[in-house]
Amino acid sequence: MLDQYNRDINYLRVSITDRCNLRCMYCMPKEGLSHIGHDDILRYEEISRIVNVAVGTGIRKIRITGGEPLVRRGVVDFIASLKTIPDLRDISLTTNGTLLSEFAGKLFQAGVKRINISLDSLNPEKYERITRGGDLNAVLKGIDEVHRIGFSPIKINIVAIKGFNDDEILDFAKLSMDKPFQIRFIELMTLGRTDLDRDSKYLSNDVIREKIREIYRLEPVDGERKRLDGPARIYRIAGGAGEIGFISPVSHHFCNLCNRLRLTSDGHLRACLLSDEEVDLKGALRGGCNDDHLAKLIIGAIAKKPIRHDLACDEGHIKKCIKDMSTIGG
Ligand code: 5AD
Ligand code: SF4
Repeated sequence: MLDQYNRDINYLRVSITDRCNLRCMYCMPKEGLSHIGHDDILRYEEISRIVNVAVGTGIRKIRITGGEPLVRRGVVDFIASLKTIPDLRDISLTTNGTLLSEFAGKLFQAGVKRINISLDSLNPEKYERITRGGDLNAVLKGIDEVHRIGFSPIKINIVAIKGFNDDEILDFAKLSMDKPFQIRFIELMTLGRTDLDRDSKYLSNDVIREKIREIYRLEPVDGERKRLDGPARIYRIAGGAGEIGFISPVSHHFCNLCNRLRLTSDGHLRACLLSDEEVDLKGALRGGCNDDHLAKLIIGAIAKKPIRHDLACDEGHIKKCIKDMSTIGG
């Protein structure tokens, strides 16, 4: 369905839990975040019903996120159950990768072929520090496993942090030479509660791209492929097996291309990641509404989708979004 700015809203990101087995410094404070009560998290049947109705309004692709989606019990069976929804063409997953070597085979069977994995350092101690306890080896094992099984595409997400992982840019770039992965640099956004002063740690993707260009020849990947990759600007190092993507929500907002809605783990529909305006679907569902009413609420959220975010608006003023990333889903 088209919104009022002619964007075709066909993509729903579904956060199935706000819980996570890591505590990345840019995502949470060190004590973690108070978890949403069990009863306030949508049940799988409720999520399925919302997805079904959303497909009726034009959603064709969904992505399962968290928190960390693989920590929620029953996730594989839930994903497998979504395969029966006619017109739902694609189910993908975003994960921190720590549990992936155990889950990869089951996820593939359940119908997940496209996977995004967060990996902010290739150095074990730094990885442990940024994630506050994560084991880099577990993630690397998970990545090997999804590669071996044949997931495609495999995208590796790196949040660039000044003074932390900017010395690893070339190591990450090189990974795209050797392996058929899409290595994606994501600009650090300021949203939700953390102890990191993110405004001072922000690094523009323009700087990263130039660093890579000093060493490697970057060729833009255009055409149909580019369109399918949504907001990422995609390049290939000449002769490389994989690709390098730049997702630049702060320096070059891509709101004009945004085709997505987000379902938060506590059952609210968000038309923009960076706007706290939400539609309460859980309340409606639990109040006994019918599918027509649910569809109206979804269509209403699409109609109110803002033209753009103002994370770094022209005046240079930065507006904070209140809700936490682990609740909304990255
Ligand atoms: N800025 C940018 N990306 C973030 N993510 C989580 N918090 C932020 C933030 N403040 C990313 C994660 C992961 C995806 C789910 O969202 O690193 O790749
Ligand atoms: Fe967990 Fe992802 Fe947040 Fe890291 S960024 S704490 S992996 S939800």
